[in-house]
Amino acid sequence: MGKRIMPRAALCAAIVAAVPALSACGGVKDQQADVVAGKQLFVKKCGACHTLSHAGTKGTTGPNLDEAFQQSLQEGFGETAVRGVVYKQILYPNRLPNAQGIKMPSKLVSGEDAHDVAAYVASVTAKPGKDTGRLATAVQAAGGGTAVEKDGTLSIPADPNGQLAYEDAKATATAGPVTIEMPNKSGIGHDIVIDGLGKGEVVSDGTSSFKATLEAGKTYTYYCSVPGHRQAGMQGTLTVK
Ligand code: HEC
Repeated sequence: MGKRIMPRAALCAAIVAAVPALSACGGVKDQQADVVAGKQLFVKKCGACHTLSHAGTKGTTGPNLDEAFQQSLQEGFGETAVRGVVYKQILYPNRLPNAQGIKMPSKLVSGEDAHDVAAYVASVTAKPGKDTGRLATAVQAAGGGTAVEKDGTLSIPADPNGQLAYEDAKATATAGPVTIEMPNKSGIGHDIVIDGLGKGEVVSDGTSSFKATLEAGKTYTYYCSVPGHRQAGMQGTLTVK
């Protein structure tokens, strides 16, 4: 089956017809957007595939979104233009897959949510520094907890907000047989693996788990084996007492 790439002008016309909020192709009407909600949605729906420094996301499946707009911004494109590009990308991603054959799904967010995400991305892309005020606390950084084994089960949940991290970057257990499980409610595929010990299956909504026997006094590293996730920080240290 041959892919048909729509000529840009036709695409613009189609978008303007389909989306009344777009005043012209390349721009969105200056409407109020909730950038706090936009940040939360971005982390949950987009961050596993995209790096955006203000959002603290480190996905590598899609282009780095700080780098993506750097040149356009330097060339004088304004925030509104960038917002329009992001909005259109959310509704109508490019048809071309990346090097691993992964395509960006369309309409991961829609309606107001899509405007909020586009406004947030446009407001922070390629900017140094960190989010402040309400934006700074919009998404709690994952990984701060310690998981403790109880009755032979060690539960290390994936961050439910979509960050490439477990809720706990540290875990403790007693020596002997254990079931290591990773409940995952994020909607993003993750697993939990300890080299030489075992590997749960990749789940996006459910629990990944495996059984293992832990040696006293040892430390192990657990991580997610989905490409790019460990590198983004999805790992932790298990200490056996
Ligand atoms: C499953 C992974 C995946 C998810 C989730 C995803 N993207 Fe993408 N994204 C990609 C890939 C792959 C590309 C490159 C191909 C393309 O342009 O469609 C891309 C391209 C982009 C681009 C164009 C960047 C450029 O260099 O021009 C933007 C903007 C973008 N994505 C924003 C988003 C936003 C916003 C979300 C969340 C609503 C999102 N993406 C979710 C994989 C993803």
